[in-house]
Amino acid sequence: MKAMVLKQFGGIENFSLKEIPEPKISNGQVLIRVKAIGINPVDIKTRNAKGQAQQYKDAPAMIIGWDVAGVITKIAEDVKDFSVGDEVFGTINFPGQGGAYAEYAVAPAHQLARKPVNISMPEAAAATLATLTAWQALIDQGHIEKGNRVLIHGGAGGVGNYAIQIARNIGCYVITTASASDADFVKSLGADEVIDYKTQKFEEIISDIDFILDTIGGENFVRSLKVLKPEGTIVLISTPNIEETNKVAKEQHVTNYKLMMMHSDGEDMRHIAEMLANGSLKVHVDKTFPFDEIPEAQNLLENGKVKGKIVITLP
Ligand SMILES: NC(=O)c1ccc[n+]([C@@H]2O[C@H](COP(=O)([O-])OP(=O)(O)OC[C@H]3O[C@@H](n4cnc5c(N)ncnc54)[C@H](OP(=O)(O)O)[C@@H]3O)[C@@H](O)[C@H]2O)c1
Repeated sequence: MKAMVLKQFGGIENFSLKEIPEPKISNGQVLIRVKAIGINPVDIKTRNAKGQAQQYKDAPAMIIGWDVAGVITKIAEDVKDFSVGDEVFGTINFPGQGGAYAEYAVAPAHQLARKPVNISMPEAAAATLATLTAWQALIDQGHIEKGNRVLIHGGAGGVGNYAIQIARNIGCYVITTASASDADFVKSLGADEVIDYKTQKFEEIISDIDFILDTIGGENFVRSLKVLKPEGTIVLISTPNIEETNKVAKEQHVTNYKLMMMHSDGEDMRHIAEMLANGSLKVHVDKTFPFDEIPEAQNLLENGKVKGKIVITLP
């Protein structure tokens, strides 16, 4: 099979398309013929020796990437919930070694859900890690409720665009930060108020927030604390300076501060599949690239302007 192997950590020139043996499955696993791959900031961080890089220290070949949609071609005997031929999607082995940048990927069956028939493979691959992160932050950690005032930072991004929709579906009042050029996009997702993060200071405009999803971190986190209700919850998923962040949270006696790392989860994926099937969650794929252009796709996410998600498609 073809795989986009990372020879060593560093720039996109370290990727090389290689012919390698198809991976073998063990108990609890399925083999997926990959039809689409979602690209995330963690892919880029890992390529740059951060993110999940430590997980690859003993790997024979570094195949990164965690978000897949595809068709099951092999199945371990003990897997009862799926069959060969099923169309599935999910984030595989996060945190851990992903292996999604390949024509075939091995996945633990319990991390997958069936792809709803009304969405395409690229849309499915775009609704995995970012969607799981939004779900786990807002529902599992934040316990957001109808009527809550919710602030989503980076609303036009991979995680933010799903977080807006989930909060809106629950009946929250949704405020988001985004670039001015993305204002119409985030409003179309259900944002009630949009704050241009480049020209406005959100802490001078809003207050009394019940729940904040901070996708930025650092100074943005410190400023966010100013608008959080005393009993409110803030979930942080991006940590440019974790020691400083923890210090500030402690000094300001923030009780409901949660530093979150998302995880692969088939049950959460089934909730996401339901929302995609009933139309309450929409996918925005900004751009697709063919498999051999994974380096270009990473370059766009790292250095360009993206609305929603970038996806790799395979024949
Ligand atoms: N802990 C976890 O489990 C977890 C899971 C998923 C993601 N993450 C992390 O969370 C972060 C966001 O992920 P993502 O997939 O949503 O990234 P993304 O698709 O690159 O989106 C980031 C968004 O943030 C916006 N933005 C940049 N600076 C901003 C600021 N100061 N204020 C408000 N918005 C700003 C960008 O807008 P412009 O393009 O207009 O600048 C962009 O729309 C990344 O660091 C990622 O690694 C963590």
